[in-house]
Amino acid sequence: MLSHTKPDHRPAFLTAAYTPRRSTATLLPTASSQTNNRIMTQTLRPNSLDAFWMPFTPNKAFKADPRMVVRADGMFYFTSDGRPILDGTSGLWCVAAGHNQPKIVDAIRKAAGELDYAGNFNLGHPLAFEFANRLTGLTPDGLDRIFFSNSGSESVESALKIALAYQRARGRPNKYRLIGRERAYHGVNFGGISVGGIGRNRLGFGPMVGGVDHLPHTHDIARNAFTRGQPEHGAELADALERLVLLHDASTIAAVIVEPVAGSTGVLVPPKGYLQRLRELCTKHDILLIFDEVITGFGRLGAPFASHYFDVSPDLITMAKAINNATVPMGAVAASREVHDTLLANSETPIELFHGYTMTGHPLACAAGLATLDVFKEQRLFERAAELAPYWENALHSLRDARHVIDIRNLGLIGGIELEPRTGKPTLRALEAFRACFDKGLLIRVTGDIIALSPPLIIEKSQIDQIVDTIRGVLNGLD
Ligand SMILES: Cc1ncc(COP(=O)(O)O)c(C=O)c1O
Repeated sequence: MLSHTKPDHRPAFLTAAYTPRRSTATLLPTASSQTNNRIMTQTLRPNSLDAFWMPFTPNKAFKADPRMVVRADGMFYFTSDGRPILDGTSGLWCVAAGHNQPKIVDAIRKAAGELDYAGNFNLGHPLAFEFANRLTGLTPDGLDRIFFSNSGSESVESALKIALAYQRARGRPNKYRLIGRERAYHGVNFGGISVGGIGRNRLGFGPMVGGVDHLPHTHDIARNAFTRGQPEHGAELADALERLVLLHDASTIAAVIVEPVAGSTGVLVPPKGYLQRLRELCTKHDILLIFDEVITGFGRLGAPFASHYFDVSPDLITMAKAINNATVPMGAVAASREVHDTLLANSETPIELFHGYTMTGHPLACAAGLATLDVFKEQRLFERAAELAPYWENALHSLRDARHVIDIRNLGLIGGIELEPRTGKPTLRALEAFRACFDKGLLIRVTGDIIALSPPLIIEKSQIDQIVDTIRGVLNGLD
């Protein structure tokens, strides 16, 4: 175990000096509500972390030893006791332009004062149309019809439903199967966990969406360990689609969905030629190809989308996160003209797609998105990511000799450092690394025994050095 003096991360409201903004009297229930509602008495305690049921978090452990941030600026978060934390993960792969970007913050403030909300069911507002138009300036040629959602998970559900609706609209209702991939993360809704490939996320949630099968994942440390950029070995894994076609017949398969670079399961970079082969096979068998670009979109690889980086054009792209620098929840699907126009032309009903969300194209999210695209362009952030990528690669691979490291992977401004799992206690070593890095002023992300990195595209070289030095120190101090 690493030995260090532990800083106090307790939030201000748990410390004696804290004065609640509202008086305790307003927060605590009245005598009559106490008699009427015992549960309220418990949930309205002001100084408690109990009420918020945190996602993908060991709640009990976190609340016993909380890590709280109260402010952010540029490359940094700040804890409640004022410590800067260098953000090595862009929040959750999403704050591409850096935190509290002034232009984006201003745009949200302005939009909130003009049009707080307007739905987009049979009513429109200009920002949604403008933002959709602007996005098509970034999406690959031909993928210029935009459906808005509010998250990556919803973008995935939308894309899967659009794929099925398209097959039906062109007279192929039997093409209903969806093919995902092992170790894929496509969010947490039922479609996403069904095509997704993480056992833990599926376990206990019933039989999943029907008609789904999976390709094998492409992670192969035995052949590809410490590859810089795309691995040499594994393009042939795309041929597994041929086997699924033999099994199910192409006439039953609607779409294949993959992350061009799998992020959440530990930075799995596609082998050279793999995505091209998948595209060829999808075209050959008349199957739609969906790229889930929730992480790879908006400059993460030094190009607008991974589709550009790999020069492979899918039929649908899902996006979210950096779409508006993660300031207001938003996601989107970019559909090809073929998919969109077929659906519209062959609809049997005036409404062509029975799908959408109350918050689809929310004015604040669109305003933030427009400002974000301006910032990306003005600061040349995609180019900057491409320029920094070789430095990033060298810095990461300098950790090859650090303790416990069994593989390092990188592409664009993404990095993965795989650790040898501790015998009998998988994931524990990485979790300890996460905690120790935070205590040393660095935010990393860990998934299984893998450290996943994805800093804001505004990162400086000296901050890349800081990330690598901190991780080296932490790993060398861990059992
Ligand atoms: C590839 C991919 N798809 C979908 C999602 C889900 O996005 P959200 O958490 O916004 O629902 C994620 C989240 O990390 C992701 O990485």
